Amino acid sequence: MSANLSAVAYLGATILFILSLGGLSHPETARRGNLYGIIGMALAVAATVFGPRVTAAGLPWIVGAMVAGGAIGLYAAKIVKMTQMPELVALMHSLVGLAACLVGFASYIDTSLVFAGAEKAIHELEIYVGIYIGAVTFSGSLIAFGKLSGKVTSKPVLIPGRHLINGIAALVVIYYGYAFLQAESISAGVVPLAVMTVIGLLFGIHMVMAIGGADMPVVVSMLNSYSGWAAAATGFMLANDLLIVVGALVGSSGAILSYIMCRAMNRNFLSVISGGFGTGEGQKVGAGGTAPAGEVNPISAQETAELLAGAKRVIIVPGYGMAVAQAQHTVSEIARLLREKGVEVRFGIHPVAGRMPGHMNVLLAEAKVPYDIVLEMDEINPDFPDTDVALVIGANDIVNPAAEDDPESPIAGMPVLEVWKAKTSIVMKRSMATGYAGVDNPLFYKENNRMLFGDAKKTLDEVLAALKG
Ligand code: TAP
Repeated sequence: MSANLSAVAYLGATILFILSLGGLSHPETARRGNLYGIIGMALAVAATVFGPRVTAAGLPWIVGAMVAGGAIGLYAAKIVKMTQMPELVALMHSLVGLAACLVGFASYIDTSLVFAGAEKAIHELEIYVGIYIGAVTFSGSLIAFGKLSGKVTSKPVLIPGRHLINGIAALVVIYYGYAFLQAESISAGVVPLAVMTVIGLLFGIHMVMAIGGADMPVVVSMLNSYSGWAAAATGFMLANDLLIVVGALVGSSGAILSYIMCRAMNRNFLSVISGGFGTGEGQKVGAGGTAPAGEVNPISAQETAELLAGAKRVIIVPGYGMAVAQAQHTVSEIARLLREKGVEVRFGIHPVAGRMPGHMNVLLAEAKVPYDIVLEMDEINPDFPDTDVALVIGANDIVNPAAEDDPESPIAGMPVLEVWKAKTSIVMKRSMATGYAGVDNPLFYKENNRMLFGDAKKTLDEVLAALKG
């Protein structure tokens, strides 16, 4: 393939990626968006593999690596459960970081690339920055994977004087950057490069270890953004325009998503960006469900069905438990039945419900819940006082009134769905256990709240049967 044809293919792929991002912004166009992304990626890979920079001798290596990587990816995608998706994503981000590091070292020690003067300085700066971002992304994503999969503690691990340590590490990285740019030979330059890489790896571990469970979604999307910048840095090192553009798209869309999630969780965007993650410090984790803070009122599936059937307005709030129980199809069926009976049924979605952005929307779309009755938190919150029944399915943190009422709570300030303002709220879960953030939920003890204990799928099946009966 000629250089011109390859450039045109790259341009086409870039346009398809932008269309893909546009499509993914709404559930109705998401499938099309995905398709654009797939075609764009196929085009990009083909234009690179058959492009002018790959020699005939290198082709078998590339094809071999693609077959092996593709097989592993296919296998991982097939066996991963929906609830493990964030872990898989974190693991994938780590690979982008690793690739940036390896490409950086390879292009530094590659003697066939000869630069001089300003060009040499720019190339080396790209390498230095690219490897640093890659190292932070690599180790940070591995720790995020560990935390999300429960292999590493989800509590914030805070080293005393951590901000000072970070500051000193940043100065050392800058100092070695200077030494690297001044190095006369490759062997002299490799040492500062290696020292910086180790510091980057340690910083990634340190940064993510310091983050508490409730902030993990922001971290995953931040690492998504970092992986984009790592890819863009790789693009600069390889002088590959497509990689630069795609990396920038991923980097900036990840940053925008992080910003949206920070707002949803009441975290300061700038402190997150600078790696501050100042949450959890000095805050004690809540009661952890060990000491009940009052009496709860249980309710049966039969009574729940009666309340729902007798209601004029119902708001359903799904959370992580609905995903675990795979109860979305039963929920959809219940909503359909109630609507047929003339009950106004809507869904209230918290931006960080479940374990990944859009988790609930994906499940409800899969169960064919109409998009127009699925509303976001800000749209639906004012309607709870006019609602007869708020049905909370396997959600906990996102409906915790302590976020509004208790300034001492670890989740204080996080916007929540105000289900307790409905005439009656019904919370479906298996026990009194806490949710992801590990804090007790005063909602359960409110006078107008009822607890429907049991696996969400099983109890919803009973509610559905009672509604049909
Ligand atoms: P959680 O606060 O984690 O609460 C989920 C509840 O579901 C649990 O209290 C659990 O109680 C219940 N549950 C689990 N399995 C169930 C089953 N089979 N049937 C019925 N109930 C079941 O979830 P949430 O309210 O959706 O809030 C999300 C939390 O996750 C937030 O703290 C958020 O910050 C965090 N987080 C979000 C993301 C994203 S991006 N969405 C990513 C990572 C973390 P029982 O054990 O008593 O049943």
